[in-house]
Formats: sequence, C-alpha cells, structure tokens
Amino acid sequence: MNTSDVLSDAPADADPALFATMSTMRAMRRLRPEPVPDEVLDRLIQAAVWGPSGGNMQRYEYVVVTDPAVMAELAPLWKRCVDAYLATTGKYAPAGMDEAAYGRMVAAIEYQRDHFAETPALVIPCYRFPEPRIEEEGMRRCAEALGADATARMGRIQERFSALAEGSCVYPGVQNLLLAARGLGLAANITIWHLFLEEEWKAVLGIPEEMNTFAAIPVGWPSGRFGPVSRRPVAEVVHRDRW
Ligand SMILES: Cc1cc2nc3c(=O)[nH]c(=O)nc-3n(C[C@H](O)[C@H](O)[C@H](O)COP(=O)(O)O)c2cc1C
Repeated sequence: MNTSDVLSDAPADADPALFATMSTMRAMRRLRPEPVPDEVLDRLIQAAVWGPSGGNMQRYEYVVVTDPAVMAELAPLWKRCVDAYLATTGKYAPAGMDEAAYGRMVAAIEYQRDHFAETPALVIPCYRFPEPRIEEEGMRRCAEALGADATARMGRIQERFSALAEGSCVYPGVQNLLLAARGLGLAANITIWHLFLEEEWKAVLGIPEEMNTFAAIPVGWPSGRFGPVSRRPVAEVVHRDRW
C-alpha cells in the first residue's frame, strides 16, 4: 500500500476543515485586547480534557487567567523570560529559517512581550504524576524483564523519563486546545519560556509546589492573519521501516 492508496481510501465525509485548520495554524502572537467570555474558555478546556493521558490518569489541572490585575503581575515576569530567550537561544535565526522570516517572528514576539498585560486570557496547563506504588517484588520483575543494562540506564534517565511522561500527558490536550481555539475563531500560541522563572509564576498564580507547569498559552481574538504554515516536506522527514 502506498500513500495514494491510503488517501483514496479516505471516507468521503472526512473533515476537510480540520486539515485546513491544521495546515494554517500558525502561532498567533498578536491578539486583540477584547475579553474572551468564560463559556468560550470553558470550551477550550473541554477540548484539552478530551485529549488522552497515560493510563487515563487525568492528573491535569488548568489555570485560566483573565483578571487584568493578575495579568499585570505576570507581564514583567514574561518580559524577563522573553528577554532571557532573545539574548541567548533566540539571538540568531534557527538553522534553515531565513533572516527576514526570523525578523518577523522576533517582531511578533516583542509585540506579545510589550502587550502581555493586555492578553485577554492565559491558560497554564499543569500536571503531576502520583507517587509510583511499586513494591520490591515489582522492581525485581521489572529488572528481569528489562535486563541489567537497561535497568541501570532507566535509573540514570529517571528524571528525564518522568518529565517526558508528564509532558506526554499534557501536550495532546494542549494541541486540542489550540485547534479548538481556531475552531471558535480565536487565536493562541503555545509558549514555554515561563519555565525560566517557573517558581515565580507559580507563586503569583498560587500553583502548589508539587505541581509542574507545561506551558503558558495566551488566548484572544486574532489581530494578525492566519496562513499556511512553513514546514519541512513529509518526504524529507519520514524514514520508512528503518531510519
Ligand atoms: C513546545 C513548544 C514551545 C514553544 N514555546 C514558545 C515560546 O516560549 N514562545 C513563543 O513565542 N513561541 C513558542 N512556540 C511557538 C513556536 O515558536 C512556533 O510554533 C514555531 O516557530 C512555528 O511557527 P508557526 O507555529 O507560526 O508556524 C513554541 C512551540 C512549541 C511546539
């Protein structure tokens, strides 16, 4: 079977709007300051909650900020995070992106930084795995299944494994939220630079110490225009059967 067989087998009622949305869903950093009603924001969180989580544990919590006073407290923190990024990783265009395109992106990032206090809504997805309940007997059988080398490797990457596993439970919902925002005529963009000052963000928002935050997603009515995303072609990124 090749790709064209798969496409020609697609049911006639496949949703073309979904594909049009995905292929034009750029990060939208220019938002109008008008508020977004709570009922609309609830629909975004509903879409996020429809996303899957490992073992269907659903240990996510979402902080939704709409109070301008809280946003005003977050704005200086966001400015410090953006400035830290632009001074380091963000100083140069990523490999493969032309300078002009990167200049436009930086202009949008700076716009969002300078207008952050006027962001109508901000969603902060949080997640925390429960403490694992694994007894000695379970550990012994796990080591038997994996073998000694792999068990030792797992021990060394435990922190990375947990972070990835929690992220894997959050980001499918985040993508649902971003798609739902587009479906409702809203704009949003996923950001993670708040992690530079995560403790400070958590303090402002009263997020419990043991909770991890995974993104800060500004949401509002779009002020810019959506258009086709710029991505590598499928043929360049796919490895069939083996790398
Ligand atoms: C995991 C992740 C983290 C991101 N973090 C940030 C961020 O902190 N700030 C920001 O302005 N954009 C952030 N972005 C948006 C990307 O920069 C953007 O999606 C990418 O440059 C492609 O641009 P486009 O979505 O407009 O096509 C993030 C995207 C992803 C997937």
